[in-house]
Amino acid sequence: MTEPIDVDALLGELTAEEKASLASGQGFWWTRAVPRLGIPSIMVSDGPHGLRKQDRRNDHLGLGDSTPATCFPTASALASSWDAELLRAVGDAIGEEARAQGVSVVLGPGINIKRSPLCGRNFEYLSEDPHLSGVLGVALVEGIQGRGVGTSLKHFAVNNQEADRLRVSADVEERPLREVYLAAFEHVVRTAQPWTVMCSYNRINGVYASQDPWLLTEVLRHEWGFEGLVVSDWGAVDDPVAAVAAGLDLEMPSTGGASAARLVAAMAAGELDPAALDAAVGRVLGLVARAGAAGHPDADVTFDVDAHHALARRAAADCAVLLRNERGALPLHLAAGRLAVIGELARTPRFQGAGSSKVNPTRVDDALTALREGVPREVEVDFAPGYGVDDPRADHGSLREEAVAVARAADAVVVFLGLPPSYESEGYDRDHIDLPPEQVELLAAVADVTADVVVVLANGSVVAVDAWIDRTAAVLEAWLGGQAGGGAVADVLLGAVNPSGRLAETMPRRLADTPAHLNFPGEDRHVRYGEGLFVGYRHHDAVGREVSFPFGHGLSYTTFEHADLDVRVLPAGADRDAGWRGPDRLEVSVAVTNTGAVAGQEVVQVYVGDPEASVTRPVRELKGFAKVRLEPGETATATVVLAERDLSYWSTRAGGWVFEPGEFEVAVGASSRDLRQRAVVHVDGPPLALPLDRESTLAEWLEHPVGHEVVLAALRRAPGGDLSGLVDDPERLRMLGSFPLKRLVGMLGMGEGAPVVDGLLAEVVG
Ligand code: BGC
Repeated sequence: MTEPIDVDALLGELTAEEKASLASGQGFWWTRAVPRLGIPSIMVSDGPHGLRKQDRRNDHLGLGDSTPATCFPTASALASSWDAELLRAVGDAIGEEARAQGVSVVLGPGINIKRSPLCGRNFEYLSEDPHLSGVLGVALVEGIQGRGVGTSLKHFAVNNQEADRLRVSADVEERPLREVYLAAFEHVVRTAQPWTVMCSYNRINGVYASQDPWLLTEVLRHEWGFEGLVVSDWGAVDDPVAAVAAGLDLEMPSTGGASAARLVAAMAAGELDPAALDAAVGRVLGLVARAGAAGHPDADVTFDVDAHHALARRAAADCAVLLRNERGALPLHLAAGRLAVIGELARTPRFQGAGSSKVNPTRVDDALTALREGVPREVEVDFAPGYGVDDPRADHGSLREEAVAVARAADAVVVFLGLPPSYESEGYDRDHIDLPPEQVELLAAVADVTADVVVVLANGSVVAVDAWIDRTAAVLEAWLGGQAGGGAVADVLLGAVNPSGRLAETMPRRLADTPAHLNFPGEDRHVRYGEGLFVGYRHHDAVGREVSFPFGHGLSYTTFEHADLDVRVLPAGADRDAGWRGPDRLEVSVAVTNTGAVAGQEVVQVYVGDPEASVTRPVRELKGFAKVRLEPGETATATVVLAERDLSYWSTRAGGWVFEPGEFEVAVGASSRDLRQRAVVHVDGPPLALPLDRESTLAEWLEHPVGHEVVLAALRRAPGGDLSGLVDDPERLRMLGSFPLKRLVGMLGMGEGAPVVDGLLAEVVG
């Protein structure tokens, strides 16, 4: 359609049946057209790390073909770059490919929190930390949408496992929900306004996300100001009438008219307000209008396959995390001699995960070929597969023997290990975090005959390394690096790229150490988020547990020195209309120097703790970071600005974010456990005034800045004489403090509890 779409006029012309039909899809990938009124279909396609446009087959499980597209590193890799500009560039490239292929909305990014390393889809998600997920999610959305193509921020919300994902209820308290599971969504919605948000399959505290008015309307639209369209995950709608009433706009995929019929019948029966359907259809039409030119393959937009492949290679290299590097084992310094490359994954790379995000790559690099091309002419590269990948016929014993012989004859040995495709996929979770045993046995056998073994890992989610890492000199975590990952690994191993990735998720020593261990994946259709706020490093830090590698860790071929931490409290702006509400900002700056011999990039990480908070808070939380590139000897100042929200917590009692004045610790360093500098700053603000109600305790009244005086005055005028002395004795107050004032009033002969307290509450408000 070439005419611009007039949404209001069309809403006046569409019949109830047509409106109902527009609220669900046409086939798997298209919105419904209404030719009578010139309303076209637009196409949506997966997925987060590259385009998966399926033309002919209605298959969304990754089984059928899709049009070739650049397969970038998956989200867990991309997040390890800690580089928003890189993610923006990848987003831009995906947007360009979508444009060239006539895809109007890319179904991603996925920004769910990695609650457990077992989640089968962790490779599609960014981090265990909401701040990092939020900042990087914004970069991807802005990158894609900058091309005039929409995104679908998914899976909203609390979709942290694959087990029973279509039914399970994630039972999570509101504080962790807000601070951990919704925070990144909130940040992306407020900052980047994705064209669409995709609701998840699961239920949240008993209610399907697809039909939860609190989630889809109250929080997403009213609180966060979301202006776009809410689309269901594919098959996530249980009751289309409840879904539209809750704020879902588009059910995907098509239900062959069944949902439309239900909607029409519900309106006829007075069970669905037609205004709710109008709102949904208005947003569908708004999306179609917005898609405009992007809705058709754009002859003027072609993408440069080689340039995107080169970007994928740069991205994969910047995502790789150098976990360990003893005796300067990396980069490889071979000028001549034999390099043994061991492991089937060097020849047959695993570069993406399985399921709906599976891209049909334009080409694929393998590390073996890239190493052969990259080493000096005088170096001979020998290869042995060492193990089979998902191959039941492989004779691991003889493959191992062959690999040991190759290693024995070599001057340097690189062993490629990783998770077979069958271990990680959409649709199911892992049940352990170990590498396949034959790979660990291979490594041990190789390490027996050679001194400095270098290991390269390919996995979408963390693996346990504790049992074997001591046998290695160096370990490079290369993740699922996309179609150019093989070349990128060669770049890092050979020193053409200095690694600068940092872990976006903790590497625990054992699965049993992980916070969700006893509550994952739940049973009987429920999973209890018993660890509350303590997800990832928040847990390990709170219980003081050793980890294999902490959140934020990553080495470089150079070294960095941090100095001159400066934390300034910038006073609140004079233009605050709601009065003084705490500081506007904290400005944190650090001088970073490259003290080594090669150029490199450091990620300065800023963590904040509130040691004297009145509620339980994590020891420290990432609230800012900056990636700086430095030549040898160069110094730069990294500056991170923290807003009031970065110091606040979600108060269930207040039903909102609460800033509590007092001392905050700002710790800055190179990982969550390598904190090089700390500063304690006092941040002022009005005293905390959490709402009082009929159930409030004496202690809560005394903590309230106004309630304190009101309750003391009431005690002074007690009918039997002044009782205010009751609160003078700290011992007595400790005991009495937990009594709801209502009950105490009765016990102290001050009258009937509820009316007396109501009177006092009126004094506080009045
Ligand atoms: C996945 C989504 C995906 C959709 C369409 C669902 O199974 O959960 O992430 O976008 O299918 O392929």
